Formats: sequence, C-alpha cells, structure tokens
Amino acid sequence: MIDPNGSPEVDPSLLQIWGGSPLEGHVKISGAKNSALAIIAGALLCSQDCCVRNVPSLVDVRRMSQLLLALGVKLQQRGDILEIDASVIGHSQAPYELVSQLRASFFVIGPLLARLGIAQVPLPGGCTIGARPVDLHVRGLQAMGADVQIEHGMVHAYVSDGSRKLKGAKIYLDYPSVGATETLMMAATLAEGETTIENAAQEPEVVDLANFCREMGAKIRGAGTNTIVIAGVPSLHSTDYKIIPDRVEAGTFLVAGAITHSELSLSPVVPEHLMAVIAKLQDIGVQVIAESPDSLRVMPGYSLTATDIETLPYPGFPTDMQAPFMALLTLSKGDSVITETVFENRLRHVAELNRMGADIRVKGNHALIRGVPMLSGAPVVATDLRASAALVLAALAADGKTTIQGLHHLDRGYEQLEMKLLSLGAKLQRLSP
Ligand code: EPZ
Repeated sequence: MIDPNGSPEVDPSLLQIWGGSPLEGHVKISGAKNSALAIIAGALLCSQDCCVRNVPSLVDVRRMSQLLLALGVKLQQRGDILEIDASVIGHSQAPYELVSQLRASFFVIGPLLARLGIAQVPLPGGCTIGARPVDLHVRGLQAMGADVQIEHGMVHAYVSDGSRKLKGAKIYLDYPSVGATETLMMAATLAEGETTIENAAQEPEVVDLANFCREMGAKIRGAGTNTIVIAGVPSLHSTDYKIIPDRVEAGTFLVAGAITHSELSLSPVVPEHLMAVIAKLQDIGVQVIAESPDSLRVMPGYSLTATDIETLPYPGFPTDMQAPFMALLTLSKGDSVITETVFENRLRHVAELNRMGADIRVKGNHALIRGVPMLSGAPVVATDLRASAALVLAALAADGKTTIQGLHHLDRGYEQLEMKLLSLGAKLQRLSP
C-alpha cells in the first residue's frame, strides 16, 4: 500500500562503509526511476485502468503515487506492479506539500490539462543542483492554447475557450529539456490537431514514456530524435507496460566495479543507453563487455588513467553520471576535467570528496581533478541524489571507514542499494539513531 503520510524529509540514519573490499558477482538492475515518474504521471491520460510493471521501490516513486491518490485516482501497488485507474480524476489541484517534495510532480500538469482542461500545480522549488525553472513547460502549454497564470507559487492553467481541449501547435524548445519534452508530449496526446516539438530531448526515458503512451493508443512519432510529432486522439485506452532498466543505476554499478577493481556483471540493462558512459570507462582503461543483449560485465584494468568529460543532453555524457564518475576520476592517474553544462550547481560533491583525500578544484562549471593514489575514509554529508552515490563509490575504494549522512537523498533514487552492495561483498551497515 502507498503510505499516505509519505516518508520523513530528512533521514537521520548513517551509512557506514569500510573500504578496500573487492566486490564480485551479479547485480540486478531495477526499473528506471525517471521513466517511472513520468509514466505514473502519464497514466493520468488514460480514461481506463492501466498496469505499469518493473516500477522501482523508491521514495520518489511513492511520492508520485501519493500525488495521484491526492488527485482522486485509484492506485494499487503489488510488488513492482502499479495498477492505476484514472478513469475518474477527482481533483485538478496538486497539493503543495507533495509537489514541494518531488519536482517531477510538476509533470502532472500536462495530463491534467489534457484530460480536464484545467490544472493547478504548485511551482516546483529549485533544489541543490539548480533553480530548475519550468518556463519551457509553461510556454509550450501556452502555445497549445492554455491560459497560464503563476501567482503565489501556484501555476494556474486552463483552456480558455469552451472546448476544454488543448490545440496542436508547433513548439521549439530553447533547450532540449527532458521534463518539458515529456510534459508537452503528454499534453499533445489528447489535443485537437497535430503538435510538433522541435529540439526535443532524446533521453531513453522520453522514449519509454512515448512508448507507454503509444501502447495506450497515442499517435507519437520521432521520440528519441530531436523532433517529435504527436497527432491528438480523443482518448487513450488500457495498457500493460514494463518500464526500461535504470541506466543511471547501471552506470553507478559499472563505476562500483571499476573503482574497487572488481569484475561485476549487471542485468537487465540496455547497453545502448550507456554508450557515453561505457566509452569513457574504456577511455580510462576499464573494459565493459556485453555478455548478452541485456547484460554487461565490467572488467577493470590494473590502473586507471585520466580523461575529460562534458555533460550534455542525451546521447551525450549524462549529467546524472557526473558525480559517480568523478569519484572514479579522483583515483585515475593524471589530470581530468569534468565540465557540467546541464545544471548550474551540480558540483557540490567536490567538497565532500576532497574531505576523503581527493584533489579537486572547482573553476566555474569545471572540476579540475588531479588523481591521487588513495582516498581515506571520513565522515561526509550527501548533498543530492547522485552526489550521495558518488560518496558511496568513493567509500568503497577508500582506506578505512566512511560515515555518510543525508541518506534520504540516496533512498530517492537507488532501490535497495545497500542490500545489492552487501550481496556483492561490500562491508557496510546502516545505523539508525
Ligand atoms: C530530468 O530532470 C531528470 N529528472 C534529471 O534526473 C536529469 O538530471 C535531467 O532530466 C537531465 O537529464 C527526471 O526525469 C524526473 P531538464 P528535468 O528539464 O526534466 C533547464 C536525477 O538525479 N530548464 O532536462 O528537470 C534546467 O534548469 C534527476 O535522477 C529550463 O531552463 O531536467 C536545466 O538546467 C536530477 N527551463 C536544464 O534545462 C525549463 O522549463 C535541463 O533540465 C526546464 C528546464
């Protein structure tokens, strides 16, 4: 069942990790968090019930499920299966206390407008990695005929003509925003006429959402390219859909193998979703081989060499892998430069890695990393989801004990990370106060 009271915002527990143990074995990769969040919102488009499988058990997914319940939608969870029945949507206002905890909640604005012709969704706050504006979402919805007013931190949107139906439009995104692409693609599925989204995001999670909507009868073509065309239809029908594996979790475990000089196998994965990460691992001397169409094996070389990374929209190097990969580069021989181009404040893990003996300097949106022979365990604090993963990875390689605070970040995006690491031979324990 979904806990209607949600989870505590800050988790006071600590994760203690004793570094230096080699890992070995196989790790099962969970369903993609960023697909699940968009697809749960997308289920609002369906005027019948639908089933979503391979849903990861994460705090953020529970929060998105709570949001749908708050909108009056029926929702049942059975293990990794979500049964969602949005045949009736009771409310058009998303509660502030839920949206403020999960930025992705804002994705419901497109489906609510598409189904009801009205939506009130609190403006999602920024977070530690950036201001996270939603101007591209809003401008696209306005282009589709929505009247959008933002006041007192609330986005009021409604279709001003009597039809209550959005209209197809040609939209150009100034930036290939994942969320804006998803919001507008969902809104367009039930609009009158055809919508074109130019300079659209090409992330695999956008394609996953498009495939989910197409299985409900939406007419979408071009997902995965920079131009998506959606022909509106009157309604969408039931489907039973399985979410893709989480490429960021998979990338994180590839780095776990590399940083501990351990051979690990991962499945299920979609190797092509990890091309940029695999290319960079091979660049620094780590072999990654496909053991089967949906599994990978990481085989680290004796030593790691430096490389430069620039985060970019897909298919470029993913910003969500920037912090985990930085942990690896702190131990690579030579000087590496990481340039974060997607978010304006996503280098806050540098200070914590330096507390563990890394040698990193930040200049603007560049991190200059000088490889060191060894990291040492220390008490550290996680600042955001992927930064917490970076600290776990660094701790697995460090000499001695690391204690990590801020585990609520970790629990948002990695399903059973500790159990998976323990099963690979890591030495760690979570201490609850
Ligand atoms: C999605 O966030 C992911 N979240 C993020 O994953 C991921 O890092 C990001 O895409 C980039 O790949 C989910 O899918 C739930 P964006 P999103 O809109 O949609 C600017 C994780 O760790 N922008 O592509 O919010 C924005 O400020 C999370 O799993 C505008 O200026 O990302 C940023 O600089 C973190 N105006 C850039 O675009 C807008 O209207 C990319 O943001 C929207 C975005």
